[in-house]
Amino acid sequence: MSKGIKWILTIVCALMFSVGGATVTIAADDEIDRHGMENDMPLPSDAAALENGKERYSARCSYCHTPLGRGGSSSVCLACQKYKWGSKSSAIYATIAAGRPNTKMGAFATSLSQEEILNIIAYIRTLQEKKIQDDLAAAKQ
Ligand code: HEC
Repeated sequence: MSKGIKWILTIVCALMFSVGGATVTIAADDEIDRHGMENDMPLPSDAAALENGKERYSARCSYCHTPLGRGGSSSVCLACQKYKWGSKSSAIYATIAAGRPNTKMGAFATSLSQEEILNIIAYIRTLQEKKIQDDLAAAKQ
C-alpha cells in the first residue's frame, strides 16, 4: 500500500470516528420535551394497572388506533404529544368517557370502568414514551 493511500485511509477513519462520536451523544432525560403529557388526573403506575390498560387498549382501541397508537383508520396519533382535544390526563379521560361528537370516537363510559379508563391512559403514556425513545434512536442513526 502506498504512503498516500495510507494517509487517505487514516483521514477517512478519523473523520468517520469523529462523526460517529458526535451522533452517539445521548440526550439527557431532563432535556426531553414531554410537553402535553402532563397528568392533572393522577394515573396508576403499578405493573398490574399497566397490564390491564394494555389489555383493554388492545381489545377496545387498537383496531382503530393501531397497537402502537400511530395512526390507523382513526388517523390520530395517540403516541404523539399534541392532541386535537387536549392531551392532559383529564382531557384524554373526557375523550374516552364521553367520546367526541360527530366523529367515530365513541363514548366508553358505560362499557369501561373509571379504573380501566385510567389504566388505558397510563398505557397511552407508555406509547408516547416509546415514540419519544424511537424518535431519539432514529435521530441518532
Ligand atoms: C371506531 C374507531 C375508534 C375506536 C374503537 C376508538 N377510537 Fe379513539 N378516535 C377515533 C377517531 C376517528 C378519532 C378522531 C376524532 C376526531 O376527528 O377528532 C379518535 C380520537 C381519539 C382521541 C383524541 C385524540 C386527539 O387528537 O385529541 C383519543 C384520546 C382516543 N381516540 C382514544 C381512544 C381510546 C383510548 C379508545 C379505546 C378505549 C378509542 N379511542 C377507541 C376512532 C376510534
